[in-house]
Amino acid sequence: MNTEPLMALKSVSRSFGNNLALDNVSLEAYPGEVHCLLGDNGAGKSTLIKTMSGVVNPTEGEIHFGGAAVHFRSPRDAQDLGIGTVHQDVGTIPLISVARNFFLGKEPTKGWGPFMRYDSATANRIAIEQIRSMGIRRISDAEQLVGTMSGGERQALAIARALYFGAKLLILDEPTAALGVKESRIVIELIKSARARGIALVFITHNATHALQVGDRFTVLIQGRVASQFVKGEKTREEVLNLMAGGEEFDSAGHGD
Ligand SMILES: Nc1ncnc2c1ncn2[C@@H]1O[C@H](COP(=O)(O)OP(=O)(O)OP(=O)(O)O)[C@@H](O)[C@H]1O
Ligand SMILES: [Mg+2]
Repeated sequence: MNTEPLMALKSVSRSFGNNLALDNVSLEAYPGEVHCLLGDNGAGKSTLIKTMSGVVNPTEGEIHFGGAAVHFRSPRDAQDLGIGTVHQDVGTIPLISVARNFFLGKEPTKGWGPFMRYDSATANRIAIEQIRSMGIRRISDAEQLVGTMSGGERQALAIARALYFGAKLLILDEPTAALGVKESRIVIELIKSARARGIALVFITHNATHALQVGDRFTVLIQGRVASQFVKGEKTREEVLNLMAGGEEFDSAGHGD
């Protein structure tokens, strides 16, 4: 395992009014590893990844990236550093084409000055190449509407896009939540191949099986606090399920920096 984390949260707290959504959370994401973030509804998982991706600022604590403290003023700041986030629902837009989605906001152009226009041939070619490199072979038409893709294919598109635009840290918020067995398997394979390329991943899921299939490190949140933090092999499937179900064995381990 790597010794230097790519990203580290140090005692991060975030409150919304009187609601302490995150309470003194520390965690680390390492290159070439999958960090699974587990916890029940309302535990603070999405709020946590929003602090990692510049959507929400912590009220206390520090975020380090590449060894230095960072302050995100916007999601764009996080993206520019190489933090790619795939949100569960808003990762792709259904009524535009595969290629348009892939290049949204970063369209390739051809021609100069007043003659500059969208370079659809280049966009189409690269989008298909990149999606195929994710092992999705059924998509061969870049003009196909994203709304006609399956859930797993859409996740693959969003992951391919994040990686193509230079993500070093890839954050996936419940990418398998709406998927069947076969489609989930595709997403799990994508996670593994991103890890093999040295990407640091944060993977949120409610599914213990998926977590145990790919997780190298695990953080279980309960009511905004780290209930447990452990590495692969340290806990049995039973223990993980117990923790996810409400933390019978609530231990406040893992609060170190
Ligand atoms: N913008 C906000 N304003 C007020 N409260 C918020 C806001 N965002 C999150 N919260 C609160 O913070 C807590 C944690 O919410 P969060 O969405 O992070 O949970 P979660 O673990 O992602 O849950 P789920 O599994 O249902 O997605 C909840 O009590 C939620 O109501
Ligand atoms: Mg959530």
